Amino acid sequence: MSNNNLSFSFGGLNKESINKHIISLLEIERHTSFSSWDKKNFTVELELKDVLSFILFIDEEVAGFSILSQKTKDCVHLHRFCLAKKWQGRGIGKIMMAESIKRAKTIKASYFSLKVPVDNQQGLNFYNNFNFKDLFIQDDYFFKVLCLM
Ligand SMILES: CC(C)(COP(=O)(O)OP(=O)(O)OC[C@H]1O[C@@H](n2cnc3c(N)ncnc32)[C@H](O)[C@@H]1OP(=O)(O)O)[C@@H](O)C(=O)NCCC(=O)NCCS
Repeated sequence: MSNNNLSFSFGGLNKESINKHIISLLEIERHTSFSSWDKKNFTVELELKDVLSFILFIDEEVAGFSILSQKTKDCVHLHRFCLAKKWQGRGIGKIMMAESIKRAKTIKASYFSLKVPVDNQQGLNFYNNFNFKDLFIQDDYFFKVLCLM
């Protein structure tokens, strides 16, 4: 895939790729997230995580990641969604979300859920553009869901 002469690819997120790219993944996580993950958070085993999650490479450099798992029979949950600061504001997050939703549909999920801090205006605008609906607020997070049917 390419955009403005940039070359995009989606790589698998599994033990091997996490080990290989952990420094870049942690750096992106630290600079873009409201709470910091360590390597253990990346490697925790979750249902269909390997199949659904991905690392985004731009010109072969780690640019972002989407960490997904099957939460229930019908629902895929987005655990982490980050794009390195230098690539933000250019429509690349939209490409990552479209890929995340596409992957959820491949396992025939009906719902796509996530949570976002109530003070993350950037994230809230982003998800609202995709038509995510508020389910409830808990511990300063909005719980949101997108119907895929
Ligand atoms: C959220 C994130 C993935 C968006 O990626 P992005 O490539 O910057 O977003 P895009 O350029 O594709 O923009 C898509 C929409 O998001 C919203 N958006 C993006 N940046 C924004 C900003 N700085 N302020 C407000 N809204 C913003 C806009 O609605 C935009 O749509 P528009 O361009 O039609 O106005 C990225 O900013 C990121 O990694 N942020 C830090 C981590 C994070 O907040 N993750 C999600 C919540 S847990």
